[in-house]
Amino acid sequence: MSDEIKKGLLGIVVDETEVSKVMPEINSLTYRGYAAQDLCAKCKFEEVAYLILNGELPNKNQLKKFENQERKERKLSNTILQDIKRFPKTAHPMDVARTVVSIMGLEDKETKDNSIEANMRKVMRIFAKTPVALAAFYRVRKGKKIISPKKNLSFSENFFHMCFGKVPNKEIVKAFDVSLILYAEHSFNVSTFTARTITSSLSDIHGAITGAIASLKGPLHGGANEEVMHMMNKIKKPENALKWINKALDNKDVVMGFGHRVYKSGDSRVPTMREYFGKVAKIKKDKKYEKIYDIVEKVMIDRKNIHPNVDYPTGPTYHLMGFDTDFFTPIFVISRITGWSAHIIEQYAANKLIRPLASYKGNKHRKVLQLNQR
Ligand code: CMC
Repeated sequence: MSDEIKKGLLGIVVDETEVSKVMPEINSLTYRGYAAQDLCAKCKFEEVAYLILNGELPNKNQLKKFENQERKERKLSNTILQDIKRFPKTAHPMDVARTVVSIMGLEDKETKDNSIEANMRKVMRIFAKTPVALAAFYRVRKGKKIISPKKNLSFSENFFHMCFGKVPNKEIVKAFDVSLILYAEHSFNVSTFTARTITSSLSDIHGAITGAIASLKGPLHGGANEEVMHMMNKIKKPENALKWINKALDNKDVVMGFGHRVYKSGDSRVPTMREYFGKVAKIKKDKKYEKIYDIVEKVMIDRKNIHPNVDYPTGPTYHLMGFDTDFFTPIFVISRITGWSAHIIEQYAANKLIRPLASYKGNKHRKVLQLNQR
């Protein structure tokens, strides 16, 4: 009997979810039934984080309580602060994020408790502390003093404050918030599936998120937003873009920030993020990256019919906001913690060990020879 293999689980439906729905046929994405672009227009990131985790949008009181909890949990333990100071300055911040969440698991008194109540409390701690730890590393590796979080600042404002020591204007904060909303959740992507797989053995939430971060780091997934910026830096100026992209395609190179396993005629998140990329470029009075963006996109669509994914506009947007390139994927992490957590909780609620089969193609059965006979 020959096994039918679906490499990369291409087109395989492995479970059900209530968290989000990706609809490539109508180029749409909903979180708990709400269109992501509608949420971007009407909500701040905290409201969407609440929605993803709790299933409903919060009213004013619920939002206030959620924000207070997040703000209260921002403080890092001394151990983590000291560890961050000791980490190699050359470490990739994604590895820092992965390590820090893992250390949080060592410290958390509820690590072993997988009840929904304990998991929600742990989620709040991971959600609140991970950006603080990343911002601390952002400063430490530049030889700068760590900046403490401020309770009167929103999630996004506080991240800017801790990285740069100041909060930019409202439009920039809104663009950042929109990027977090668009990054928050995307069904059974690689990192979420990794988190669900780890959870399926009834392991703990810190382990599942640690694994998800490792999975997100790869350039075929979240790491693509950093690769987009490396590509734009290689192109240098709009005048070089046409030649560069045509040569890349002639060489059959994979162009980062393009293509998607599910969306084949455009990523539903791109139009919203492209709009905010334009707004940030206008505020920063820097149109260079937009020009490069448009030229590369046109050639990719004309020659290959391959459309950009969300990492294409977020890369240059974060660059214009002033973030170091290797912090782009960690920003993805601080948002996706919400989606991962909702899936982890969903997996616990209706668990079945994830254990696929493989079609064996190795050596035929053979006898072991004693060491002195080999
Ligand atoms: N550049 C050039 N060619 C591409 C690209 C690309 N970015 N993406 C797909 N193709 C080609 C691919 O070479 C293949 O051609 P052929 O049939 O001639 O061999 C065809 O399109 C189908 O691609 P595939 O790799 O079989 O499709 P997939 O569903 O397995 O891969 C993907 C999806 C995202 C891994 C792939 O499009 C890719 O490597 N993109 C670049 C990395 C990237 O931007 N990742 C971010 C993904 S979305 C957001 C996120 O998760 O962060």
